[in-house]
Amino acid sequence: MFHRSTSAVFGLLVGCSTAPTVGTPEDAAYRFDETCAPCHGAAGAGNPEIAAPAIAGLPAWYVTSQLHKFRDGVRGTHFDDIEGMRMRPMAKAVFEDAAIDALGTFVEALPSQRPAPTVAGDAAAGQASYATCTACHLADGSGNPALQAPPLTHQPDWYLVKQLAKFKHGVRGAHPKDTSGATMRPMAQTLADEAAMNNVIAYVMTLGK
Ligand code: HEC
Ligand code: HEC
Repeated sequence: MFHRSTSAVFGLLVGCSTAPTVGTPEDAAYRFDETCAPCHGAAGAGNPEIAAPAIAGLPAWYVTSQLHKFRDGVRGTHFDDIEGMRMRPMAKAVFEDAAIDALGTFVEALPSQRPAPTVAGDAAAGQASYATCTACHLADGSGNPALQAPPLTHQPDWYLVKQLAKFKHGVRGAHPKDTSGATMRPMAQTLADEAAMNNVIAYVMTLGK
């Protein structure tokens, strides 16, 4: 058993390839290909078959905050959160803070890959409910880091609708340590039913183009 730095020197001596140093851009690119691309795709465009959202272009602050939440069990531990449980072990595999930071920078730099709309909703009706959302996610959906509100212009619609339902039913954002999730929960509760969620996300899909 070698310490990482010892094994790096050892690798040089014997001419073996070694894993990149934790926290470097090379490390992030390597981990993304190995650990993230199998579900989120090589370009970060997501995969609806396994409910993995597009993540390309999400700001680094949000990616790192969510990776910390998944890693620390603040997101993805509710017994109804099937998709979150799929993601959680992946964040636990990248446990070092430096590796998480580097992955955030890497994901932010990937060109946004938002897929075409799939949810049938009434965007005009949704626009009225979106008025409440602008306080944090802004009128153009670009988000506000000061309020920890992510942009809503990068992810696919089926994912956004699913997250609204999770927040509404306490599957996401109800963990006692999830302070930013707690600000989003009551907002999802203002949306009466599935149709209201579909409508507001149909409107969100018209933003950021
Ligand atoms: C086994 C499949 C799988 C792998 C591998 C995986 N993810 Fe995920 N990821 C998911 C799923 C499914 C979700 C959606 C969870 C939900 O619905 O709450 C998700 C959600 C996320 C989110 C939250 C997006 C948002 O808008 O809130 C981020 C960020 C993320 N993944 C980044 C990563 C990174 C970085 C890696 C590599 C370290 C990775 N994922 C590996 C399946 C995976
Ligand atoms: C008080 C501020 C606030 C308001 C108002 C608000 N949100 Fe949020 N929203 C947040 C925060 C903070 C998060 C991120 C929570 C986390 O870190 O998990 C979030 C997350 C989300 C997500 C999940 C995004 C993702 O990538 O997983 C969706 C979807 C969303 N909000 C939609 C809405 C909609 C639609 C409205 C209006 C009905 C709304 N929000 C109003 C603060 C707000």
